Amino acid sequence: MAAYDLIDHEYDVVVVGAGGSGLRAALGAAQQGLKVACVTKVFPTRSHTVAAQGGISASLGNMGEDSWQWHMYDTVKGSDWLGDQDAIEYLVRNAPKAVYELEHWGVPFSRTEEGKIYQRAFGGMTRNFGEGPVQRTCAAADRTGHAILHTLYGQSVRREVEFFVEYFALDLIMQDGACTGVTALQLDNGKMHQFRAKMVVLATGGYGRAYFSATSAHTCTGDGNAMVLRAGLPLQDMEFVQFHPTGIYGAGCLITEGARGEGGYLTNSEGERFMERYAPTVKDLAPRDMVSRSMTIEIREGRGVGPNKDHIHLHLDHLDPAILHARLPGISESAKIFAGVDVTKEPIPVLPTVHYNMGGIPTNYHGEVLTLRDGNPDSVVPGLMAVGEAACVSVHGANRLGSNSLTDLVVFGRAVGLRCGEVVDKAAAVQDAPKSQIDAHMARFDRFRYASGSTPTSELRLSMQRAMQSDAAVFRTGKTLEEGVQKLRAIDAAGSDIKTTDRGLIWNTDLIETLEYDNLIAQAMVTIEGAANRTESRGAHAREDFPDRDDENWMKHTLAWKRPGEGVQMDYRPVHKYTMSDEVSYIEPKARVY
Ligand code: FUM
Repeated sequence: MAAYDLIDHEYDVVVVGAGGSGLRAALGAAQQGLKVACVTKVFPTRSHTVAAQGGISASLGNMGEDSWQWHMYDTVKGSDWLGDQDAIEYLVRNAPKAVYELEHWGVPFSRTEEGKIYQRAFGGMTRNFGEGPVQRTCAAADRTGHAILHTLYGQSVRREVEFFVEYFALDLIMQDGACTGVTALQLDNGKMHQFRAKMVVLATGGYGRAYFSATSAHTCTGDGNAMVLRAGLPLQDMEFVQFHPTGIYGAGCLITEGARGEGGYLTNSEGERFMERYAPTVKDLAPRDMVSRSMTIEIREGRGVGPNKDHIHLHLDHLDPAILHARLPGISESAKIFAGVDVTKEPIPVLPTVHYNMGGIPTNYHGEVLTLRDGNPDSVVPGLMAVGEAACVSVHGANRLGSNSLTDLVVFGRAVGLRCGEVVDKAAAVQDAPKSQIDAHMARFDRFRYASGSTPTSELRLSMQRAMQSDAAVFRTGKTLEEGVQKLRAIDAAGSDIKTTDRGLIWNTDLIETLEYDNLIAQAMVTIEGAANRTESRGAHAREDFPDRDDENWMKHTLAWKRPGEGVQMDYRPVHKYTMSDEVSYIEPKARVY
């Protein structure tokens, strides 16, 4: 093993990841007077939140009547009753406060004539418990994530969060079941660091890149999720993967749901607005799982568009070009660049594309990581929190509503900051890092640095991405899932023959891509094995061999463990069938009709 002299750091709180949730958590902890570091593999304003387009949901009621109770109902129904209702109540009640806070910090929201924050319609967001679409999604044109991320970065710097930029987090330092820090590689010079802390917050995003076609950035490799698995902790509900209905055909880039919120609609090869058949009340503004399934059915039944009848048309060409220019400038440009389409004249070719992971690290609504210990499924892991797409609170359950993600980032980022203020003792000492732990982290690192097998990382990654794309898709069957499980087990096993060629430590992208691949394959396996195991259809998990939701047997969260060199193990956690306060009652499950 190579000898690494680790550079030592000591903080109250170390946040890993600098997207919307990481920055909000970091600045929240700093507001509590804590000493905070933020360790990030990309420059903060390049984090994937920058790509969020359509907006952030909050029942401000700027464009008509709205209420947090309606927002709660929509989110529970959107989740197909897998969401924890206490956490959902926390989300929707705190959403307006979190949005106004962003406004006061400088987010340049689009405005109404009266100067209020502009809100647009989004899928599954309704008035009066499902009567019709409501305008609840606060937007900064179609660059809302960009605006929020830049604002939060500025605010974090103002509050003296210390940034460690272009550092790749390797593993969690765990002692007696508690987290006491994290190790990381400094990418530009190859130096190793240990960050010892009283609280580690994982804000490392999703793992869309386990699939071949995703709207996610190439950096979305779920590094925190994989660190959690290696620490012997479970991930939750990983079988629920969201396909966004409108990825650009071929390129996979996102065309915001806000396009349909502004009046856009989908057509098949017969020019039919087919969503009217599938969701008569809200039509093109049905939730994403339903729209993606409807599009897939149209294509399968021979009504796709194009020479191969393999995609769908999204029309914006009937909208006023001035509206397109003001509210959808980003996607107008993307459609031109990636599909060669002038949106004022022609439809955009689109296809459902992997967009979001509902599953992740189980937490309560304070952001504290949970595990199953001594029969208690809500047992808190001391020293460890998670937030954002990496976490599974679970407010999105089996299907997230569009624009509830940015809300999740800032509401629970804020909650994490507040909780750190309550549980982190400024006066307490930071624990030492045990040598055995650090040696184990370095041994894993060296295994990849010096990997001298015969299979390049890119080959394994492509096999994994293709298997996930074809076998864990919008529609699933026992047969395709079982085939997928077998393929992924073989790909995982082939990792023992992995080959890296660059042994250096300065900007070694060969090595980083290999570490990222190792993170992805573990998550791909718990995803597909969880999907094969769940014999019902719920939200984004649509089993053709089990087409109905089965509340009696399956209204429960999957917990999945995968330790290195071992197979996937599964257990369950009950869904919280209770609310946070007595101001609202538990919303009983019913059929999900839109
Ligand atoms: O369509 C969109 O703008 C994506 C929003 C989201 O995923 O929340």
